[in-house]
Amino acid sequence: MTASYQSKDKLFSALKWQVDMGIDCAMSDTAVGLYALEMPKMSVLSAALTSAHLPQVTPPKTGHAENLAPTCDSLVKGISEGTSLPSHFGDLSALTTLDELKSALRAFDGCALKKTASNLVFSDGNPAADIMIIGEAPGRDEDRMGLPFVGVAGQLLDRMLKSIGMDRQNVYITNILPWRPPGNRTPSAEEIRLLWPFLRRHIQLKAPKIIFALGGSSAKLLLNTQIGILKLSGQMQEIDFSDARDGSLPIPVLPSLHPA
Ligand code: URA
Repeated sequence: MTASYQSKDKLFSALKWQVDMGIDCAMSDTAVGLYALEMPKMSVLSAALTSAHLPQVTPPKTGHAENLAPTCDSLVKGISEGTSLPSHFGDLSALTTLDELKSALRAFDGCALKKTASNLVFSDGNPAADIMIIGEAPGRDEDRMGLPFVGVAGQLLDRMLKSIGMDRQNVYITNILPWRPPGNRTPSAEEIRLLWPFLRRHIQLKAPKIIFALGGSSAKLLLNTQIGILKLSGQMQEIDFSDARDGSLPIPVLPSLHPA
């Protein structure tokens, strides 16, 4: 760390602030701005949209290949190995359109977040777009408006898209969780597990050409790994989001730091 601190307490409090902000590993001695880090990834997205072929997918690194389960099934098994399988899980393949999925989520009473949220935040953008952006969870502004990424982070996302000549008509946006966690707290593992079958069906029905996973929670869930976002960021991996009934649905997932 190149900054000098006048006391040990100041150094500890600077480190604590970084941990509180979600920084989980050090990549270099000097700080690098979000734009410098993330702009190369925006051009990968741009290339995905304009070229007939997807950019090269990074093969899983040795040592954690088993974590990058090709079908995300270990996560689903994690659910079924629990004492009770959520009752909604088996029914979702009967939903064949995004509208039906939205209605099913609206009717789903199995998650306590629904009780404290003002609105269901299902998606925004163009359902026919090649790119699906998956963030973490709605914040206060998103909860109020019922749309993802409309607050400060959303404005930065719009600027990032604009920098590569895109807007919301070129992307389809959703979150891991469709309801705001109270006080914007981090979603619990249980909430994510409970709502994962809905997100997986969302991905299956949308069937995008590429997924842009925004933030650590989204990247870890979609790549089924515990590796931190600073290491995952920019490492595209192909993941199969099908289930046994549907056959194969391999989709490249590009993780990125969250604009927040
Ligand atoms: N952050 C997210 O991850 N999603 C939103 O919708 C807004 C902020």
